[in-house]
Amino acid sequence: MDDRPILLLGCGYTAARAARVLLARGRRVLATTRDPAALADLAAAGAEVLPLDLADPASTAAFASRVPAGAAVLSSVPSLPGPEGPRDPGPAIREALGDRPARVVLLSTTGVYGDTPEVDERTPPAPRTPRQVVRRETEISVAAGPWSTLVLRPAAIYGPGRGLLEMLRAGRYRIPGDGGNHVSRIHAGDLAALSLAGLDSDLTGAFPVADDHAGTVREVVAFAADLLGVPMPPSVPPVDLHETLRSDRRVDGRAIRRRLDVTLRYPDYRSGFPACL
Ligand SMILES: NC(=O)c1ccc[n+]([C@@H]2O[C@H](COP(=O)([O-])OP(=O)(O)OC[C@H]3O[C@@H](n4cnc5c(N)ncnc54)[C@H](OP(=O)(O)O)[C@@H]3O)[C@@H](O)[C@H]2O)c1
Repeated sequence: MDDRPILLLGCGYTAARAARVLLARGRRVLATTRDPAALADLAAAGAEVLPLDLADPASTAAFASRVPAGAAVLSSVPSLPGPEGPRDPGPAIREALGDRPARVVLLSTTGVYGDTPEVDERTPPAPRTPRQVVRRETEISVAAGPWSTLVLRPAAIYGPGRGLLEMLRAGRYRIPGDGGNHVSRIHAGDLAALSLAGLDSDLTGAFPVADDHAGTVREVVAFAADLLGVPMPPSVPPVDLHETLRSDRRVDGRAIRRRLDVTLRYPDYRSGFPACL
């Protein structure tokens, strides 16, 4: 068994799932947050919770000495907010990690493929919006660090308490146009499993991550509404929605699963959504 310490840089929805698996396996887990009280459960389960705000230069500078030499790092940190829009956290991640980690797995996004409608592991990034461009910049800056890097680009992440089901339940979901656009997704538990396999491997490069079925929004929402017993939500002009809610992208995520030998627990929303309830 690999026994490198694992540092979860940003321990949010997906990384917290990974943390629980790692702790159950007896691994040393360090997890960062801007609000240590939010990770009290993980601390009680044995994780070493460390404060870190990558938007704060003093916090970032103070952090480097806490990184165990040879650690494997899973970064979930998204773009940082800036006065002129999203900002690349890559330079701050590089400063916070110094030269101590041996390995970094970066959770990026399929947004880096921009408007490309069909995506697989051979598809080059083509970011178009400022959000997408900054995510691609982060991939480049993190991969330039003195460690081996694997970039995982997840499609829409869902799981209990998160995603389409929650938006429908809260009456907040709107269908973009006729709902004919395709959206790929991945259950957070499957993304966590891929992240863990990636941390313990030597695989480098960048791969899209998705389950086996990119349904149209209309098809998926109809299934989810029926499951929850709520009416179909109204449609709105796509332009009124956040860019991540109106994208039209089919993602083939098989390559990374083959390379890391991971089998999906939830191969599509028909198995994954009921498991969220
Ligand atoms: N949600 C989706 O559908 C989706 C789709 C594709 C890709 N992604 C990306 O995949 C990654 C994992 O997603 P997720 O939903 O599991 O993540 P998440 O729950 O949003 O967690 C993000 C983490 O980043 C940390 N963070 C945010 N700002 C920070 C800062 N200034 N300094 C240090 N840490 C900071 C947060 O820590 P604290 O708040 O505890 O400080 C949190 O642990 C993210 O990068 C996300 O953008 C998400």
